[in-house]
Amino acid sequence: MVYYIRFLKTPRLLKQKPGSVSVSALICITTDLGDAFLAQDVDLLLTLGLNDSGKVLYQEPLNWKAGKRELPITLGPFSANLAQQAIVLSVTAAGLKKPRSSSPDRLLDTSNLPLVISAWSAPFGGPHSLVSEKLVERRFGPKDRLGLRIWEETGNSIARHIWDAAIASVIYLQRIIAGDPAVSAPLLQGLLQGQRTSPLHVLELGSGCGIVGIALAELLPQCSVVLTDLPEVEEIVTQNIDVARPTDSSGIEFRTLDWDEELPSDLCGGSVDLVLVSDCTYNADSLPALVSVLKRLVQMSPEAIILVALKRRHESESIFFDLMQSAGLFSLHLDQMQLPSQHDQLDQIELHCYGRERYISN
Ligand SMILES: C[S@@+](CC[C@H](N)C(=O)[O-])C[C@H]1O[C@@H](n2cnc3c(N)ncnc32)[C@H](O)[C@@H]1O
Repeated sequence: MVYYIRFLKTPRLLKQKPGSVSVSALICITTDLGDAFLAQDVDLLLTLGLNDSGKVLYQEPLNWKAGKRELPITLGPFSANLAQQAIVLSVTAAGLKKPRSSSPDRLLDTSNLPLVISAWSAPFGGPHSLVSEKLVERRFGPKDRLGLRIWEETGNSIARHIWDAAIASVIYLQRIIAGDPAVSAPLLQGLLQGQRTSPLHVLELGSGCGIVGIALAELLPQCSVVLTDLPEVEEIVTQNIDVARPTDSSGIEFRTLDWDEELPSDLCGGSVDLVLVSDCTYNADSLPALVSVLKRLVQMSPEAIILVALKRRHESESIFFDLMQSAGLFSLHLDQMQLPSQHDQLDQIELHCYGRERYISN
């Protein structure tokens, strides 16, 4: 599984003796579930940069050691002038080789995906507070193909941070759009490749921070994305939509949608082409409601394709497949993607394409 650098205490400027300040923070490196810490050594690079221009002010290496549960950061002392400017602290890990720059993590394909996902803080100092907000930004590239920036909250919420299957979904969709010959997913290729005469209507369920739908709108022209989740994600997902850069002809919006409630009749203008679901099958109790929403969406749009990305976390999740079949939703295609894990192991993500039975006979 991929590991994520998290701020247990977000960066802050501390006044030292007159005329000087230091910067401190507390980090850990943990899984999406927050249930295990990275158990191998990894070289990190701490970078203090200007918020506006990204100009690097100071860099220092740091080492995470196997067995650690947290790692304090203390930088400085610096001249008190540092506190006059809006600055950002990044903690980056470029694979297991010594990192040289705080460049975004590459999401182009799994061979480039680092084991440890880097973290950028919210700005602090200057017009901002001396303590940065309880947020962490993930930056994904390469910039020529994707300049994705996604904010997460630093706390332990399930909904307000990125999960592994979402990362796999972005890589998978990106490879299909780029025409990667190693991926054979005819239904998705039909939807995502080539020129469109009308917008592609995409709905994401349980979008969390919105990384998958936002990435799609940044990669694809004529793509109208509706991200949905419980009200608790509205603030963070709206922040991500505000900084997103969809292609000129694409758009992204957020709607609250609880799987236990009625589907709004005006969702996606009453018609959807692609439904995205990433890492939403972890809780067996919510699976009947999730499948019921999927069934209603396909009744509304019989041609719709559903992409379900999941990482099997426990046995009870397998009921999802039975429920889908009972709902008349059939697995049309299955791909596997391997994400890096510690000690050179690999972690399996399943990408299931679902649709109505009619696709099977066609
Ligand atoms: C593990 S998170 C995955 C988030 C995101 N898809 C990702 O992969 O990064 C599961 C998401 O499902 C949402 N969810 C759970 N139960 C829900 C329900 N009854 N209605 C709508 N969303 C729900 C949660 O709020 C959360 O955002």
